[in-house]
Amino acid sequence: MLSTTPPSDRDEAARAVLRRNDRGGFTVPNGRVYPFQWNWDSAFVALGFATFDLDRAWRELETLFEGQWDDGMVPHIVFRAPADGYYPGPEAWGIQRQPLTSGISQPPVAATAARVLHGLSGRDASRIRALVPKLFASHRWWHETRDPDGTGLVTMVHPWESGRDNSPDWDEPLANVVPQVDVAHLRKDLGHVDASHRPTHDFYNRVMTLVEEAKALRWDGMAVARGLSFRVCDLGIQSILLRADRDLLKLAEELGFTEEAVALQGWIARSDTAMSRLKGGDGLYRSLDLRSGRLSEAVTCAAYLPLYARMASQEDALALKRHLAATRAAAGFSVASSDPRDRRFDATRYWRGPVWLMMNRMIADGFSAYGLTEEAGLLRRDSGDLVRQNGFWEYFDPRDGTGCGGPDFSWTAAMWLSWAGSQDDRQALTAL
Ligand code: DGY
Repeated sequence: MLSTTPPSDRDEAARAVLRRNDRGGFTVPNGRVYPFQWNWDSAFVALGFATFDLDRAWRELETLFEGQWDDGMVPHIVFRAPADGYYPGPEAWGIQRQPLTSGISQPPVAATAARVLHGLSGRDASRIRALVPKLFASHRWWHETRDPDGTGLVTMVHPWESGRDNSPDWDEPLANVVPQVDVAHLRKDLGHVDASHRPTHDFYNRVMTLVEEAKALRWDGMAVARGLSFRVCDLGIQSILLRADRDLLKLAEELGFTEEAVALQGWIARSDTAMSRLKGGDGLYRSLDLRSGRLSEAVTCAAYLPLYARMASQEDALALKRHLAATRAAAGFSVASSDPRDRRFDATRYWRGPVWLMMNRMIADGFSAYGLTEEAGLLRRDSGDLVRQNGFWEYFDPRDGTGCGGPDFSWTAAMWLSWAGSQDDRQALTAL
């Protein structure tokens, strides 16, 4: 049953979520579960702020890049101000720099978000000019430090880097990480969120083992990329990076960053070719375990992101259209984060089944670019209905739309404002 809240009130409620989660230039995803600044959350949140406060939207990206490391990495968390209630906090990462940060990254949505903001900023290019060199350094970090042999496929070294933390995509590579720590008693998330919506203790023990391995390597970028016992090419990061490369190239060309443009052209060509290695026998794309050389068995929501990257063929797009129809027949709301027909599907557990609005936004962008506006529209309407029925939850059960994880979530509110609450099914985020 849809709520009867008038659309304008819902827009105001979404703006109120962003204002409440604003900590002064940076936004927390949700004050209780995630009380710091997260990397890709900030990029999506900037799109929401851009609908009513463009200056504040720029600020979100600028504060994120204040956490950038000297080697170019943009960390997945910037611990801007002390906060209780989260594990692993700054002490668990052991990184000595200011502002305090984690030691891993997250999908690089920022250049695409920056290009959207630039498109709304009229003739004032001062803020994008200041940001382009930082964005470029972060892309170089992915293409060089995280691809030390120049294969065109970038390495992630921790499931949290994918942002799809607990996806079945990581089951096999994570099974090869031997847990060396027991951190169950340190977890704080279970105090805020239903345990059946969150990863298991075994998962936490393995992923915190990876943090200990990186600490032993003193967080040296290359050593981490070559040495951690979890090394995977995530289809999500790979696709999001390729799309962001294309957006950054457009910005570099427009603003006269000539050398950067040449480097970006090279990285784009290399990724376009290398990504064919991620295609499975059934024609759908997957993540690749770089240690074992095996493609993930699971087909997850990342399978659609080659559309967002604009590297999929028209034939790939039609295969994904068929896949969407089949999975939607098995669960009412799209896009389930793993295939509802798969034995690993879990409707409410973190990234093993639930629907996420920012994934839907990227997937709809992809379908729309390939002329599949019906699918793009379906995802916008499903996303809008989830919010109308339940509010701005972190994620949603694909069977009945029940809200899961944390309530009043920043990126869900931002996706409502910038996309799901609109009537336009053809919106691609940026023109390529
Ligand atoms: C968490 O703590 O669950 C986060 O997703 C890690 O980034």
